[in-house]
Amino acid sequence: MNTLYDKLHGLDPEFYTEDRVTPMLATVERIKKLKRERNAVVLAHNYQRPEIFEVADFLGDSLGLSLKAAEVKDADVIVFCGVHFMAETAKIVNPEKVVLLPNLAAGCSLADMATGPEVAKRVAELRKTYPDLQVVTYVNTTAEVKAHSDACCTSSNAVSVVRALESQHILFIPDQNLARHVALHVPEKTIIAWDGYCYVHHQITPETVMTMRRQIPGIKILVHPECRDDVVALADAALSTSGMVEYAQASKATDFLAVTECGLSDLLQISVPDKTFYRACKICRFMKAISLDDVEQSLLQNRFQIEVDEPVRSRARMALNRMFELTGETRDNLSLPDSVANE
Ligand code: 13P
Ligand code: SF4
Repeated sequence: MNTLYDKLHGLDPEFYTEDRVTPMLATVERIKKLKRERNAVVLAHNYQRPEIFEVADFLGDSLGLSLKAAEVKDADVIVFCGVHFMAETAKIVNPEKVVLLPNLAAGCSLADMATGPEVAKRVAELRKTYPDLQVVTYVNTTAEVKAHSDACCTSSNAVSVVRALESQHILFIPDQNLARHVALHVPEKTIIAWDGYCYVHHQITPETVMTMRRQIPGIKILVHPECRDDVVALADAALSTSGMVEYAQASKATDFLAVTECGLSDLLQISVPDKTFYRACKICRFMKAISLDDVEQSLLQNRFQIEVDEPVRSRARMALNRMFELTGETRDNLSLPDSVANE
């Protein structure tokens, strides 16, 4: 048996049978060849299917991916294995490159909960009462919404971005749970939350987490801040997806519960094989939309190209730049790896 079969079969023996994995191996090899021919890089989010990790040049959370996208200099093509707003972010920072999203079903219902006109209307209303109002948008938004904001943020830097802004009043778009998490950590500011939520994280309940805490003494509970506040309150740490991997690697604990999308539990099991990861996770149908076949077809047929019109792109770029300026984030101080590819 080969390594990829062992890895995938170990994660889910019922799904990753030899019949399924054997053709995947051939597809992985064809994709690697196509990447060389087209001078393409594959950026993949931590929630992607584990077989996608095999063709990724870089794997990360939204912050890591946006930083990596900002410095893809040599490639002509970026294939984005994540969701639409992430591919759009890669295009915003790389207008001259071809950015491909292999399957257009990879959207994000949270990002769809705020539109540009809705945000413009709400900002105009709120500024009558709070003239100093600044708008912080989570990267899980469309380019159009980013273009209406003063600064973007990700799950790993939302608290630092809001704290660093000079204004007292902040409209935080679109995730109400992340907004509450920020409000808890930045009590000196008034956070006005948009009423969006992530359908994946919002359905996880405190009961599930408490049951695991009771059953496994010493278990460390890692929760994504898109979860409800009564779930985040039970966590040992509220972290971005890459933050969870780093925590599990560095911690002396041996048992963990990752309360987020299920792809992260797969990644944790692969990245930290000597520890035990229990699951209180839900599947995101958007994050699971892209298959290896889609990636191959994407490179063969140059589909689906992401475009962002000016001046939306340059305004959204300013909001992303502001995030980097406020937090001083660069690829170096995040110690991002150059590559995860198994060449
Ligand atoms: P991270 O930035 O923590 O990876 O989260 C992205 C996301 O979509 C969570 O649902
Ligand atoms: Fe969007 Fe939630 Fe899926 Fe992340 S997990 S892509 S926020 S729907």
